Amino acid sequence: MRAQVGIIGGGPSGLLLSQLLHLRGIDNVVLEKHSRDYVLGRIRAGVLEHSFTEILREAQAGERMDREGQIHDGFFIAHAGVRHRIDLKALTGGKTVMVYGQTELTRDLYEARDRLGGKIIHNAENVQPHAFDTGKPYLTWSEGGQLRRLDCDFIVGCDGYHGVSRQSIPKDKIQTFEKIYPFGWLGVLTRTPPVSPEVLYANHERGFALCSLRSSMLSRYYIQVPLTDSIQDWPDDRFFDELRHRLPGEVAAAMVVGPSIEKSIAPLRSFIAEPMRCGNLFLAGDAAHIVPPTGARGLNTAASDIHYLYHALVDHYTRGDDRGLNEYSRRALARAWKGQRFSWWMTKLLHRFPDDSPYDQRLQQTELEYLFSSQNALASVAENYVGLPF
Ligand code: FAD
Ligand code: DHB
Repeated sequence: MRAQVGIIGGGPSGLLLSQLLHLRGIDNVVLEKHSRDYVLGRIRAGVLEHSFTEILREAQAGERMDREGQIHDGFFIAHAGVRHRIDLKALTGGKTVMVYGQTELTRDLYEARDRLGGKIIHNAENVQPHAFDTGKPYLTWSEGGQLRRLDCDFIVGCDGYHGVSRQSIPKDKIQTFEKIYPFGWLGVLTRTPPVSPEVLYANHERGFALCSLRSSMLSRYYIQVPLTDSIQDWPDDRFFDELRHRLPGEVAAAMVVGPSIEKSIAPLRSFIAEPMRCGNLFLAGDAAHIVPPTGARGLNTAASDIHYLYHALVDHYTRGDDRGLNEYSRRALARAWKGQRFSWWMTKLLHRFPDDSPYDQRLQQTELEYLFSSQNALASVAENYVGLPF
């Protein structure tokens, strides 16, 4: 089999790139390790930057998002029992975010690929990139016990943090930076009306909490938990008791509780690999960098990688211009590092770190007090939350 571009990973990054390239006549194949149902069973991101929504529309996959997604002009941070609103629209000269689940946008991208007859191979086992330091890279994988091969001009690794692409790059050709946090997020999805009309992040002495939403009847809640906890430790009653403890009184009192329809624990990690290219293998999205979810940067940073790479590949194929490909890693990393900084800062600001001294805790409280006393500090948070320019 032959295609111009071979894409490893059928998550949002791989599907978005595949769709955009197809629309510009660039032939590509996506190899996904899991089934479609498995990919669509993962509940992750909920907050999309304005620029991301524009890319989805460009990919002809934005129709349902525009119908069902919610545009939010602001979000809340609660601390010391008080809720403060960050007015994104006023602080950024009119910018907003879209609340629309990653699961839904992944489904929309799959449907958009189906409409155009996109080539997505599911349950591709043992995918391996080969010869990417030459002009003739290729991919191999097993399908139903048979070894398959795809020859291509470029390989793009969109296979997430645990994928094979980054791990295939020789150790002396890649540098990695990592920070592991001493807690995770326990997330619950429930068919109840959301307690807060806008996303609410809470700093509390018992730990961080987040009230988010997917629609007027679907709520997504998270609490910080120790890494040693498992979901069996958190039956629904215990989860909602703890969540209410960590919220301002009037918010806790308004909480409508219902059975969880999904419950999972995500460890928190900051990670970034440099460069995001080795020969004709390019890395994009979580394959190259991940952030703790505080601040909602992960998927949004993946989208900016895809934006840079898509334009670079179009320039290569339509004009023989390789400047975009040569600049891809530098441009994508410059923006990804800013996402790392903001996610780290939001995580430090809002969580309880088990090893923090009383001094560290007072500094955290002072940081929050400063934030809500300074229009400049608020404007900086808002600018990052709606997404820095590409
Ligand atoms: P992935 O979604 O990881 O997709 C990679 C795909 O590659 C998967 O389908 C996988 O099965 C496949 N794969 C892996 N290995 C192989 C292989 N060897 N061969 C073939 N296929 C392979 N981000 C935001 O911007 N906003 C938010 O609000 C937000 N909230 C989050 C909340 C939580 C709890 C979590 C955990 C994350 C959140 N994120 C958020 C981050 C966001 O979910 C990720 O950044 C996003 O999923 C990255 O997409 P991706 O396509 O690059 O990688
Ligand atoms: C959601 C996740 C986040 O990481 C975040 O910062 C805001 C919302 C969510 O899943 O809805």
